[in-house]
Amino acid sequence: MNTPLRFSKNGKFKIMICGDPHVKADLDTPLAIRKDFDTQALLKAALDETKPDLVVLMGDIISAKTVEEYRKCFMHYTRPIRERNIPLAYVNGNHDHDRQSNVSMDEMLSVFQEYENCVAFNATPEIENSINYYVNILSSDSDTPKQNLWFIDSNNLYPDSSISKYDCVHDDQIEWYEKTAAEFKEANGGKPLKSMLFQHIPVPEVYNFLRVAKPWELPVAVKGHGIRSDKYYVLREGIKGYMGEGPCTPCINNGQFASWKKTGDIVGAFFGHDHMNDFEGYVDGIYMAQNKLAGLFAYTDGCRCGVRLVTLNENDPHVFNSKMIRFKELGLSPTSLGPVTSWMSDRVSVNLTIARNVALVAGGVIAAGVITKKIIDKNRKDK
Ligand SMILES: [Fe+2]
Ligand SMILES: [Fe+2]
Repeated sequence: MNTPLRFSKNGKFKIMICGDPHVKADLDTPLAIRKDFDTQALLKAALDETKPDLVVLMGDIISAKTVEEYRKCFMHYTRPIRERNIPLAYVNGNHDHDRQSNVSMDEMLSVFQEYENCVAFNATPEIENSINYYVNILSSDSDTPKQNLWFIDSNNLYPDSSISKYDCVHDDQIEWYEKTAAEFKEANGGKPLKSMLFQHIPVPEVYNFLRVAKPWELPVAVKGHGIRSDKYYVLREGIKGYMGEGPCTPCINNGQFASWKKTGDIVGAFFGHDHMNDFEGYVDGIYMAQNKLAGLFAYTDGCRCGVRLVTLNENDPHVFNSKMIRFKELGLSPTSLGPVTSWMSDRVSVNLTIARNVALVAGGVIAAGVITKKIIDKNRKDK
């Protein structure tokens, strides 16, 4: 990396988060070409709107069969970022771990590092098949680290699928995080160096933002994931944002969130993985936010895809701003969605519209039946 990350003179540092790009190597159909066009349009418009100091890709980034294919895809997808010379970070998603791509974690990292403003590195080479690192943000007027960013690899599938579909962050990663955070604390005069954390798969504690749906809420509720799949959920009152699917967290909890609380440095954590969720809130004083798809390559809720802009404050790490900026809000029109999905872009609208139309049709049928009966009765009387 050429230049370190640093707060601007106005004391701000802006991070643009792109959830699950899911970029495909083969743009071999007209629809794939249109999806690529829309995804690039979103990226360019969002970069110009937010002018970030850092872009973070939240995992599930590129599907490619060879390193050459991966590089070609990376260069294509990140061109708007590289042309604007914006620092770039990423975390591995479960699909980046999938061996179907035949591209190793180290090879992916090497491709990212071909961009001179990529801040990613492997701080944990002793941990096999796992890329974890951090980047300090320096003061606006000195080389003192003021805040820190963690980038954590949430691994892939749990070895025993009868217990959990998704894996969690492993003990050796948590050990490394706690040890490194202790070093930062010592260098920071004994106070934890306040940090934001980026990770693909959310921690199970995001379910604290949800409650079981009441029967009349079922049309707008989502099914839980894994051990919670027997229940339907809605967001608790006061939780901001949108939930389009049950959060796909690990069904086991090995204490990552508890480790954050014990260490005392984590102000906020940002997750990808759930393509249709962008809700946010606090659990035990730690802010957590979901980040839905920043594009249209994989399943999502149409025009509600977008990026999240997080603006950090040099003078107070707990006073930060976090907001979603969606496709349509950037003045864009999708070329890869049909008229219906362009218009009704989320599950709640779809369910409510279906329910309303069913009620209208049922009402029409009943009214037609009543009118027909009256006509028949009248004809009988006339006879
Ligand atoms: Fe994922
Ligand atoms: Fe994904």
